[in-house]
Amino acid sequence: MVKGKTVTVLAIETSCDETAAAVVSARLGGARPNIKTESSVVRSQVKLHARFGGVVPEAAARAHVASIVPVVERALRKAKIEFAALDYLAVTQGPGLIPSLLVGVEFTKTLGLALNKPVVPVNHLAGHLYSPFGRANVFFPHLSLIVSGGHTLLVLMESSRRYRVVGSTVDDAAGEAFDKVARLLSLPYPGGPEVSKLALSGRANVPFPRPMLHSKNFDLSFAGLKTAVLYHLQGLAARKVKLTPAVKADVCASFEEAVTDVLVQKAIRAVERFGARSVSLSGGVSANRRLQERLKAECVRRKLPCFVPSPELSTDNAEMIAVAAVYKLAGGYRPKVPSAFSADPNLTL
Ligand code: KG4
Ligand code: ZN
Repeated sequence: MVKGKTVTVLAIETSCDETAAAVVSARLGGARPNIKTESSVVRSQVKLHARFGGVVPEAAARAHVASIVPVVERALRKAKIEFAALDYLAVTQGPGLIPSLLVGVEFTKTLGLALNKPVVPVNHLAGHLYSPFGRANVFFPHLSLIVSGGHTLLVLMESSRRYRVVGSTVDDAAGEAFDKVARLLSLPYPGGPEVSKLALSGRANVPFPRPMLHSKNFDLSFAGLKTAVLYHLQGLAARKVKLTPAVKADVCASFEEAVTDVLVQKAIRAVERFGARSVSLSGGVSANRRLQERLKAECVRRKLPCFVPSPELSTDNAEMIAVAAVYKLAGGYRPKVPSAFSADPNLTL
């Protein structure tokens, strides 16, 4: 890799239930890479999994196999670029569902071998971490709150290359809790967006617990909150209260407020403890309006820039994988041909 050179990267993401490909060009060298998104294509499998109420790994992998070639071809066509003109390929290595990951990883490694292009393996969580970096200028130390379906992490970035996890969930992830509460309320899959949509018309009048709010560390917990929602619903049923849309809306608003309270307060406490100079929110749950509003309001009060990815960048996509790959290359990572890495469903940040 030559510093100061503009490189073109094709990234592929298949860690869960979205088949995604993106092309970015980036100028390496300088204080931070100058990244331009040339195309980003996401094919969702939501309809396929909706009737099962969750992602079926085997079905997800088959759908990735069917979609990966057309999705990659579309990303290249939209970017007006040929395979031969690519400098690097990138792919999500993990964490995620192994049948899904294998499709993207083996496809990309094979493509790399056929085209004689190096492949950059990318941690899916690094993808979320760097998702606001393609378009925003962050300040260090930087505090990142990653809230997805599988992870809830507070990450302190000392520079664009050095980061460490300072807090994480001890049980369920925030997105998982949204999805489970949606199921308790018989809302359609995927649950998070449904809960947040209903919450808009509800009142946060049920005093759900704020788990670990006052614990000294930056860890979080959401399993107890989900159980509190279950007990509340059982209490309503015992009193023969009907689960009307209005009753459900109040439960959703109260649950959302409890999750938001804990996430925002823990994030701000970490900001203060580590002297963060900017904040970002990423991962699927970052699409949640209430969470965005509350975090932004706290940041405005402290005159801290707060970055939230646009909706298409908060849920799984390949643009964030390409951005993370560019930062990895800018940090001196040298991928080899042929690639010697494997999919890793348990990869940590
Ligand atoms: O990052 P993501 O697309 O996939 C993972 O890496 O897990 O996150 C998906 C999660 C799901 O749990 C989904 O319910 C949640 O993000 N989610 C939301 C919203 N949109 C997506 N949760 C709350 N409010 C939303 N608006
Ligand atoms: Zn994700």
